[in-house]
Amino acid sequence: MQESTTKGNFIKVEDDNPGYKMDYFCIPKHYEEDLKRVLVPAGLVADRVERLARDIVQDFQEEPIVALCVLKGGYKFFTDLLDRIKQLNSHRNKSVPLAVDFIRLKSYVDDQSSGQIEVIGGDSLENLKGKNVLVVEDIIDTGNTMLKLLSLLKAVEPKTIKVASLLVKRTPKSVGYRPDYTGFEIPDIFIVGYALDYNEYFRDLNHICEINEAGKVKYATKS
Ligand code: HPA
Ligand code: MG
Repeated sequence: MQESTTKGNFIKVEDDNPGYKMDYFCIPKHYEEDLKRVLVPAGLVADRVERLARDIVQDFQEEPIVALCVLKGGYKFFTDLLDRIKQLNSHRNKSVPLAVDFIRLKSYVDDQSSGQIEVIGGDSLENLKGKNVLVVEDIIDTGNTMLKLLSLLKAVEPKTIKVASLLVKRTPKSVGYRPDYTGFEIPDIFIVGYALDYNEYFRDLNHICEINEAGKVKYATKS
């Protein structure tokens, strides 16, 4: 496997980027009142995912990968990324054999990290011993969740571990962790859509959007 030459490549969504008015896109009716703006439209996500797939197959050459989906937020990125990798596998003279695995973590309540991660589902990590693991995550926020997941993974001795995250948040709370493959670097705001949730809502929204105060109140945990 080649070392990634594209680690520092990502689309930077600047702090003063106004995004797009909701009126310019199709938004599910039940969320119209709950969002402030579209930050990253689904079409741009799709284009960026296509390129990440190309970077990944370029680096892996013909090494088999176990793609590990971090549920639930990672599922859209995971399926779209793997679809693109599969497409490249049938259009190049080299191909990357793919296996899939899933892990379910929980760390967020409302818009705050609980500070702890819990593994609440998935197969035994022991299956990853000796494998090239590609962790597929929706977002790196503080980086704490990923560091904890990486230490769990290292304990089962995979051959290699790489991380692809669709989003990295620019936050002063960051521990400095950077994934091997990043789609977009975004401002320090709470976003939803493309499988990212707020208390399980908004996963059924295609575009990556900023939630508004009304939305936070409407879907807050009642406890
Ligand atoms: N949105 C949804 N889930 C998250 C976020 C976010 O901004 N940051 C960390 N998990
Ligand atoms: Mg996540």
